[in-house]
Amino acid sequence: MLSLNDPLLLKTQLFINGEWVDGGSGSSFPIVDPATGLQICEMTSGNKNDVNFAVHCAQNAMQKWRQTTAKNRAEILKHWYALVMENIDDLALILSAEQGKPIAEAKGEIQYGAAYIEWFAEEAKRVYGDIIPSNNANQRLLTIKQPIGVVAAITPWNFPNAMITRKVAPALAAGCAVVVKPAEATPLSALALAELARRAGLPKGLFSIVVGVDAIEIGKALTDHSLVRKLSFTGSTKVGKLLIKQCADSVKKTSMELGGNAPFIVFEDADIDKAVQGAMASKFRNAGQTCVCANRFLVHSSIYQEFTDKFVEQAKKLKVGNGAKENVTVGPLINASAVQNVHSLVLDAQKNGAIKVMGGEATELGENFYLPTILTHVTPAMRIFNEEIFGPVAPIVAFDTEEQALELANATEAGLASYLYTQNYARIWRFSENLENGIVGVNEGIISSEVAPFGGIKESGNGREGSKYGIDDYVEIKYVCMGGI
Ligand code: SIN
Repeated sequence: MLSLNDPLLLKTQLFINGEWVDGGSGSSFPIVDPATGLQICEMTSGNKNDVNFAVHCAQNAMQKWRQTTAKNRAEILKHWYALVMENIDDLALILSAEQGKPIAEAKGEIQYGAAYIEWFAEEAKRVYGDIIPSNNANQRLLTIKQPIGVVAAITPWNFPNAMITRKVAPALAAGCAVVVKPAEATPLSALALAELARRAGLPKGLFSIVVGVDAIEIGKALTDHSLVRKLSFTGSTKVGKLLIKQCADSVKKTSMELGGNAPFIVFEDADIDKAVQGAMASKFRNAGQTCVCANRFLVHSSIYQEFTDKFVEQAKKLKVGNGAKENVTVGPLINASAVQNVHSLVLDAQKNGAIKVMGGEATELGENFYLPTILTHVTPAMRIFNEEIFGPVAPIVAFDTEEQALELANATEAGLASYLYTQNYARIWRFSENLENGIVGVNEGIISSEVAPFGGIKESGNGREGSKYGIDDYVEIKYVCMGGI
């Protein structure tokens, strides 16, 4: 049992129209701590009827909410932000227990998630329209931005808090209502956020949560519903493509934060210690389970050995274990099948000539753990170069020329994040412009922030979250032409 300061933050029911209710399926399922395999609690399971009711309530609630002033919406969001920060210890415990990340990292996620609420509370007041210089003396032309309508959000297990706030906060700020389907492995952080939003005074029906074991049924009910006007999804490219197809029938607007395959390029003139520091942060954050994690290390052959030796030296200092324990820096992966998938990539690479410098083995910690692993002599022919690893494995590839580095970096359908270490300013410009990614980290391994636009190009998706652009995904631009003037 989790020892929370406020045990009422641990919820095991759906949150619909401001009420805690049992799911319509009549069944329940266990929420399990991936570090111990022990059950945290039993969660009621929702179904499509719960979705339909939540959407209907959202549509009703939104009619009033969209008429409130931005200042009013901002005040409620700020109150929600304050309550999240007040309860950071409990929220981090819940998050670490259901997801596995170390407590310190879980606290970092709560702060990161809360920052989106604070940011969009401020941005609510800046949803400006335009006056357009008219091409007709008798007309005046203007645009206004209006809430898009009921939003559906489908969120992943790797950031059970922040991926919710970065969708729900801009939607509420814009005047929309939201129905969230969190990942069934990690619904508790979402439900705790809903409880705090309720306490902050958010009116009923604006933020509902439907959890269920049948993710396909719930997802389909959301995408099929004609009142849902927008879907925001973070998750795999495969599921994202399916959801886009499902949304096509009712022409919903979509925002898709899908998989990545981030190149981490280290040039011969890089500060190697800084590059190693960035590599550690980017690769091993959340045990390698983020879509912006460095996925392929492209290192100039003249510094390949030095970079590898220093990287291995630092990676050996990582402490793998139960995230609830002190000093642990790498927690478990989400489940055993994630471990098997990561291991199959490592085995394929080894079979095709990669050399394992560290890790790559089972551990007595349990079937959900994977040791930090570094592979050298990796080539583009290997699966690990082409697939998203989503685990603590760093494959290193050598290159000789700038052209080769760019070609290797862009040789993927994914286009989310990329990283670049060099002191050469002309090269920084060239690469920032030519890398096919939505995000470029230059001499920096951690690039996520509420003030900056997060999102990808190519098959990594569309739309941007956070920043002054993040609210655009939740509004429609209406053009008004005033004649007879
Ligand atoms: C993600 O992995 O989906 C999000 C990572 C981040 O926000 O940095």
